[in-house]
Amino acid sequence: MDKMWAGRFSQQLDKIADDFNSSIRFDCRMYKQDIEGSIAHALMLASKGIISADDSAKIIDGLTSILEDIDNGTLAFDMNAEDIHMFIESELTKRIGDAGKRLHTARSRNDQVALDIRMYLRAENEQILSKIYSLIAALRDKAAENTDAIMPGYTHLQRAQPVTFAHHILAYAMMFIRDCGRISDAIKRMNSSPIGCCALAGTTYNTDRYFEAQHLGFDSITMNSIDGVSDRDFCLELLSAYSVLMMHLSRFCEEIVMWSSWEFKFIELSDSYSTGSSIMPQKKNPDMAELIRGKCGRVYGDLVALLTTLKGLPLAYNKDMQEDKEAIFDAVDTVNMCLDVFEPMISTASVLKDNMLTASRKGFINATDLADYLVKKGMPFRVAYKLVGETVAYCISNNTVLEELPFDKYKELSELFDEDVYDEISLEACVNKRISQGGTGPKSVQDQIDYITEFLAK
Ligand code: ARG
Repeated sequence: MDKMWAGRFSQQLDKIADDFNSSIRFDCRMYKQDIEGSIAHALMLASKGIISADDSAKIIDGLTSILEDIDNGTLAFDMNAEDIHMFIESELTKRIGDAGKRLHTARSRNDQVALDIRMYLRAENEQILSKIYSLIAALRDKAAENTDAIMPGYTHLQRAQPVTFAHHILAYAMMFIRDCGRISDAIKRMNSSPIGCCALAGTTYNTDRYFEAQHLGFDSITMNSIDGVSDRDFCLELLSAYSVLMMHLSRFCEEIVMWSSWEFKFIELSDSYSTGSSIMPQKKNPDMAELIRGKCGRVYGDLVALLTTLKGLPLAYNKDMQEDKEAIFDAVDTVNMCLDVFEPMISTASVLKDNMLTASRKGFINATDLADYLVKKGMPFRVAYKLVGETVAYCISNNTVLEELPFDKYKELSELFDEDVYDEISLEACVNKRISQGGTGPKSVQDQIDYITEFLAK
């Protein structure tokens, strides 16, 4: 097939080189944005008298029919085309003749691709954001059902202090709220239109870039044409926002994997989100959680790949930049798939409150509360801390726990102990008395639930 740019050349492009160079197999997913951009361009060209109204109308009709045919499956992408931009332009000329050849006036593939990818990402991210919102709502609902589920909170993966399962999973909801902020912020900065920057230097035609920007839903135009065609910061910003999001999902998945083990058994995943083993009949594996944890790595890889591609590129467009798409598309697909499976996986998991409570009874997670008890009776914290440490050591060597230590032993340790000590260090009391803002106490947990509801309403 003759290339659009064949005029300057006397030999055909080598077949292997042609396949290597072509991006249609992955950039074809931007066909809608490419057509929308071209329609806006044709409207602008006619409005400025650069092409006739008649040609513009033919172009728009032609593009509209191409869009319909791709959508309904009657037009297949030609995998021999160099990229989606060339494919649509040549299909247009096939359909409407010479008018089609006027579309590329005052435009280059360099500003075209910069436009398409922004529009594509804008649409994709709306979807990604709505999936994260729905995950946040699911976590809020799960938390609301489990405000009474006491579990050990951990530091260093050692039992530390009692928390509620609600409080624990709301921590993840807060992370996902920040993820939404990062993605929305990147979209805001991305939403400047590069169309009309042309190859790199702008154009000699009296174009109206604001007209196109407005028509395509952009907030502004890129102010420097060289920057407009060579900027891929928005891809990097989104990739880093996705990387952080995937890291959050991965940490959560790690806990889900642990909680599903016989050693913890804090939750039981639904059969619909678990798999078996080919040899061990007893197995029920948390494959979905493991796979999401695993996929985090490929999104980090996409970020590092594109950072590395861009590093050292001279201005303006370089073919290296075609590599942006596979990285960002892979990340978009991965994030979408992970969110699609994560939310129902966590929503359908059963919370095994009794096991959480049993685990909370061991490990002295009320030791801080015992120290605080003495502090409230007048003992300096450091003194109380030491005394409780010795008490824990005593319990360990006598195979007992703080809540079961006989009262005369307490009295022996300090005159400050009263009979109320047992109530004060019960797990329920430890949780309910955490009155500080943002803590695991019931008021704070309710505040967090309300905060999320307010966030989602906005
Ligand atoms: N397929 C190319 C890309 O994805 C489109 C831009 C090509 N521009 C050029 N001057 N070769 O980057």
